[in-house]
Amino acid sequence: MRHPRYASARSSAWSDQYYQICVKLMGGLTQTYSMNARWVLARRPVGLVAESDFRLEEVPVPSMGDGQFLVQVIYLSLAPVMAQYVLDGGVIEKPVAIGETMRGRGVGLVVASRHAGFAVGDVVHGPFGWQKFAISDGKGLVFKMRDWAGAISNGLGVLGLTGFTAYFGLFDVARVRAGDTVLVSGAVGGVGSVVGQLARIAGADPLGIAGSDAKCSIAVESLRYRAAINYNSENVRSRIATLAPDGLNVYFDNVGGEILEAAIDNMTHEGRIAICGSISQYLANDSKKGPANYFNIVYRNVRMHGFHIYSYASRFAEAEARLARWIRDGRLAPREDRIQGLESMPAALQRLFASANTGKQVVQIADDSVSVGVS
Ligand SMILES: NC(=O)c1ccc[n+]([C@@H]2O[C@H](COP(=O)([O-])OP(=O)(O)OC[C@H]3O[C@@H](n4cnc5c(N)ncnc54)[C@H](OP(=O)(O)O)[C@@H]3O)[C@@H](O)[C@H]2O)c1
Repeated sequence: MRHPRYASARSSAWSDQYYQICVKLMGGLTQTYSMNARWVLARRPVGLVAESDFRLEEVPVPSMGDGQFLVQVIYLSLAPVMAQYVLDGGVIEKPVAIGETMRGRGVGLVVASRHAGFAVGDVVHGPFGWQKFAISDGKGLVFKMRDWAGAISNGLGVLGLTGFTAYFGLFDVARVRAGDTVLVSGAVGGVGSVVGQLARIAGADPLGIAGSDAKCSIAVESLRYRAAINYNSENVRSRIATLAPDGLNVYFDNVGGEILEAAIDNMTHEGRIAICGSISQYLANDSKKGPANYFNIVYRNVRMHGFHIYSYASRFAEAEARLARWIRDGRLAPREDRIQGLESMPAALQRLFASANTGKQVVQIADDSVSVGVS
């Protein structure tokens, strides 16, 4: 029998197709997917994570209690913060324990539910871990997608925490205004590939920083940056000064370290710095570096403001709606770096620290036919 959600809430063509897909997936669940596969942390890494720091296990698909639902994960996200999860956990989250399923977000489909708020067929993203199937009670930053603008993998990129970070970081934290000169580091990564385009939408003038000439070309040709600086081959401080002779109104920092220092030296009076991330420092353990020139913030009345995306959870639906509309309008192009197979997860995480990814790094671990042609 058709689930009432699709009979009442959707147009008939949409719901027919979607319903068939759900039936297919549910059938698959009972017939084929009795076993789960998951990556657990095998030992604490020394420096950059290695595949041998993790162990791939086969276990039964977990059973579901009242108030819970079962998610088949279709895409998994890779994020620099995962290096902290396995080392010290960072400031907000505790470290992943040895033997525990590796922490991370995924997007997938509810394939069975005993939860009043989540129905079979709902597309959800949440902290499902590095595994094929996850049980959830809907708490802890689980988000039901209303709109995925053509591809459910967007739930990890532009229409997930990555895009929401770009959105709130630029609009709320950096308070971007038309005419601002906006510098973005990590400009071709997951967050940065969205920030530049949002800055354009806001009528600002985005400049990017990235680690290769190829990435700088992508920044300008595909991500709407006016210009981009290769921090591995150029003098970042003087190039910023050339490209922004009146100074930077906004610096959106994804990397920290020396690039943050170079940006601080180029801020204009009453400029705004949004501290989003600090990937250059995540593996530095005891030798993390802060900006030696931080006192320029005082001389220039600059506001430097850190933010964490979890604190914007009550406004995620607002961000999803606006970002999805911009995708449909052709003003925002999601950029995704997709590789295949659950077995690729450790290598995919290494790619972030090897500067190998362009756009949001995701791994596809199941058929995504749910996303074909539904929007
Ligand atoms: N505040 C929050 O709530 C929040 C939420 C999400 C993400 N973040 C942070 O935002 C930043 C971007 O996240 P993301 O998921 O979009 O990752 P990402 O930018 O896709 O991260 C990978 C990229 O970082 C760059 N990178 C790697 N090592 C570097 C180094 N030593 N120095 C400078 N750049 C380096 C590389 O690009 P290049 O080729 O340019 O080197 C690489 O492709 C991260 O710092 C992350 O922790 C914060």
